Amino acid sequence: MNETEGRPVDRRAVGVFDSGVGGLTVLHECLVQLPHEDFVYFGDTANFPYGPKQLSEVRRLAFRAASALVGLAVKLIIVACNSAAAAALPQLQASFSTPIVGVVTPGARAAVQATSGRRVGVMATEATVRSNAYQNALQSLDAGLEVFAVPCPRLAPLIQNGDVFSEEVENAARECVAPLKEAKVDTVILGCTHYPLITPMLRRLFGPHVTLINSAEEMAKEVGELMIRKGIGNEEGREGDYRFYASGDPGEFKEVGARILQLPIREVSRA
Ligand code: DGL
Repeated sequence: MNETEGRPVDRRAVGVFDSGVGGLTVLHECLVQLPHEDFVYFGDTANFPYGPKQLSEVRRLAFRAASALVGLAVKLIIVACNSAAAAALPQLQASFSTPIVGVVTPGARAAVQATSGRRVGVMATEATVRSNAYQNALQSLDAGLEVFAVPCPRLAPLIQNGDVFSEEVENAARECVAPLKEAKVDTVILGCTHYPLITPMLRRLFGPHVTLINSAEEMAKEVGELMIRKGIGNEEGREGDYRFYASGDPGEFKEVGARILQLPIREVSRA
């Protein structure tokens, strides 16, 4: 750790992991909000999707991913995958000395702040819904909240395949939106990394009176605040770098990933 103008400077990179390319929506927000930081991203593409898997299996994969990032000497780990954070965040935090944060809590906090009628919807993978992580996080912040969590098993794989404007995606989205509209929620957490990519479609389906909470955006805000408090930020004013590891085919990661990151992806190493 160095110092500039009396402020501590930590030049190590921030580690980010996800079940595949979806966490790039979180990385995108981090690159926008924290452009002076370096990031290293691990996408467990060989094991995508996590959503239909048993929670114990998702936990095992999350431990492998976190260990890989610890091996790269990162200063902080962001669990950018809702399914992994839901299944394993407390266990990861208890097992590693590197600080670890995950996507569930920031989204839950933002939803509690946003809801006026205290009726909150959650759209997520089956694993995330089964874990009750969002339900617990929301109710620990406001025990009087009514929470409606809907599993959307078709959405993430369809969005990942690339055609985010197709009728198939719209039909899959309608299936998840319908029970939430019926429950008269006023706030909905997009509890899966892929869903921010279909925000315009969801806005139209929910209508103007429902607030959508983007977990990726909330996560990036929390990471920024955390680094200031812990004094582990990099030097302000510099332009940070970002690099990638994938457990599956690096070429495929690069092609699909750039669409989700909305920034160029230069090199992907196999991990
Ligand atoms: N990253 C995963 C999540 O946010 C995407 C879906 C999956 O792996 O099933 O839950």
